[in-house]
Amino acid sequence: MKLSQEIFLNNLAQTSPSPSLIPIESAEGIYLYDTDGKRYTDLISGIGVSNIGHRHPHVVQAIKDQLDQYLHVMVYGEYIQAPPNLLASKLIGLLPPNLNCCYFVNSGTEANEGALKLAKRYTGRTEIISCRKSYHGSTHGSLSISGNELKKQAFRPLLPDIKFMDFNALDDIALISEKTACVIMETIQGDAGVRIPSKAYLKAIRKRCEETGALLILDEIQCGMGRTGTLFAFEQFDITPDILTVAKAFGGGLPIGAFVSHKNIMSVLTHDPMLGHITTFGGNPVCCASALATLQVIENENLLEGVEQKGKLFEQLLRHPKIKEVRRIGLMFAIDFDSAEIVNKIVWEAKKLGVICYWFLSHPQSFRIAPPLTITNKQIEESCEIILKAIDND
Ligand SMILES: Cc1ncc(COP(=O)(O)O)c(C=O)c1O
Repeated sequence: MKLSQEIFLNNLAQTSPSPSLIPIESAEGIYLYDTDGKRYTDLISGIGVSNIGHRHPHVVQAIKDQLDQYLHVMVYGEYIQAPPNLLASKLIGLLPPNLNCCYFVNSGTEANEGALKLAKRYTGRTEIISCRKSYHGSTHGSLSISGNELKKQAFRPLLPDIKFMDFNALDDIALISEKTACVIMETIQGDAGVRIPSKAYLKAIRKRCEETGALLILDEIQCGMGRTGTLFAFEQFDITPDILTVAKAFGGGLPIGAFVSHKNIMSVLTHDPMLGHITTFGGNPVCCASALATLQVIENENLLEGVEQKGKLFEQLLRHPKIKEVRRIGLMFAIDFDSAEIVNKIVWEAKKLGVICYWFLSHPQSFRIAPPLTITNKQIEESCEIILKAIDND
């Protein structure tokens, strides 16, 4: 089917002056196909979503099975439904014991909104500490705690009582005090250009939160779901958050997020006032069925096992005099160049050659690579060859 660019540009709200404009026909595994039959390798997983590839058959079947049972039947938190029940017990079984209660929502930003409200309500405090250069979402609360001033200034006033510290800077930890409701951070900063903290730093944050009674919220919306080689990145740093937020790849291609905490903490949302956080579509049965199937695929296909080897292979193959630095954890990469202009040309050239890389929101001198974890060694070799060609052509 021919797709109208005119409708897309005029009747759908636009977010940037230069959208990618690929007319999508279908998607399968690591590939997207356009309406002219051109194939693209999706090296960004639809921005951190398709960690198990597009349309994984097990996920598609789970969605179809749920479609035959029921779709939406009631707002979140009233009826007992199998998909959210099964998803909650599966997820909790994969998490440390203090994370035993899930609140399912619709997106990453809503997961963070819920987490912030929960921390304020539980501690009775108002101060929130976040990190510079962070990205936590686009709604008012999540925007308030995000670190990119350029994206925020047009929307002020935002939430009050927010302080920022540098990410991975031990000296700034002293900012956390008895006034702090929560510290929220991405375990690995994604849109800042893949910033990996030291274990000592995250452990010091954890300790300071315990000393002051502040809750630690880890946003694993981008770095979770196997992206870094463990199901959640925090597992590699010997710490556990008080609240974990997930979304993106969690749904296997359908929209769902969650904030997860201890039952004792979560229970404050049920009183004074009751309905402390509510959502119509949170825990949607079809989305939960898809999320459950996604966790099963990661487990059944041992997808975590291959992540480090595949990440290393990319790193070995992506050598070029124009590449200034590669930052990597698992299959999450930032590839640095001298300027945003060079990056821009390479991303467009790679697209022309059939490989999708993409920009970062807050670090224009890099492009991102975060392919489906299902990518094979051969597909990595083919993709890297094309990227190097795109760099040469710049
Ligand atoms: C770390 C992080 N947190 C939150 C979000 C917001 O998620 P969503 O776009 O689903 O609202 C994103 C999206 O890119 C993200 O990368």
